[in-house]
Amino acid sequence: MPDTPTWPYPKLIAHRGAGRQAPENTLAAMRLGARHGFTMMEYDVKLSQDGVAVLLHDDAVDRTSSGAGDAAGKTFKELALLDFGAWHSRDYAGEPIPTLQSIAAYTLANGIRSNIEIKPSAGAEAETGRQVARLARELWAGADVPPLLSSFSEIALEAAMQAAPELPRALLIEREVPGDWPSRLRRLGCVGLNLNHKYTTLPLARAVLDAGHTLAVWTVNEPARAQELLDWGCNAIVTDEIQTISPAYFI
Ligand code: G3P
Ligand code: MG
Repeated sequence: MPDTPTWPYPKLIAHRGAGRQAPENTLAAMRLGARHGFTMMEYDVKLSQDGVAVLLHDDAVDRTSSGAGDAAGKTFKELALLDFGAWHSRDYAGEPIPTLQSIAAYTLANGIRSNIEIKPSAGAEAETGRQVARLARELWAGADVPPLLSSFSEIALEAAMQAAPELPRALLIEREVPGDWPSRLRRLGCVGLNLNHKYTTLPLARAVLDAGHTLAVWTVNEPARAQELLDWGCNAIVTDEIQTISPAYFI
């Protein structure tokens, strides 16, 4: 059996920062997750119209900001004028959209590991993969542990591999895992898979881990399920549940 590659990351990862109790993908969410003991954050990154890497889940800003329309159609200056906190609660009114640069500064200063999910706007897969990987290489230069890059987009992962091959990459899969996952990982030079827990079974987890790959599972919000997946040997779980699955109480 091949050696299991090192997982230089914690077992618990806060999803979108602490993206339920605070506005997702903001610095406020990262700070809240950190206050609950999380030492690794997952967050979604895409490009503004003028190529600035920002944290945002959806293509459009409507759900999580005071604005409307696609992020890819707005310059960073336009995005920076929007309120990304008030939609969540008054406490967070005025929260700005973070740049990847600002989140790198915060996480590195606080010893927090990063899972950067490359979340390209439609049609910008290669450009986003390339730019995010290049920027991550620059921002994390000299860091003791590199960020884990992940994406549902194989085009983005391939571009990231070409731009910064040394940064670890994981393939995200939304639903059923296709049988050819080993060759996909090989082609993309990925260290492993980041899977939807609803489609993660024990035989699949064993196959991935026995093949020497890493396995992180999302979005796991039931403590018993989180424990089960970790007992199976999964390297990490990604959670919204920063209270009941908090590192302070859970493991
Ligand atoms: O990276 C794991 C998870 O964040 C993938 O789904 O839609 O929450 O970005 P989503
Ligand atoms: Mg994500």
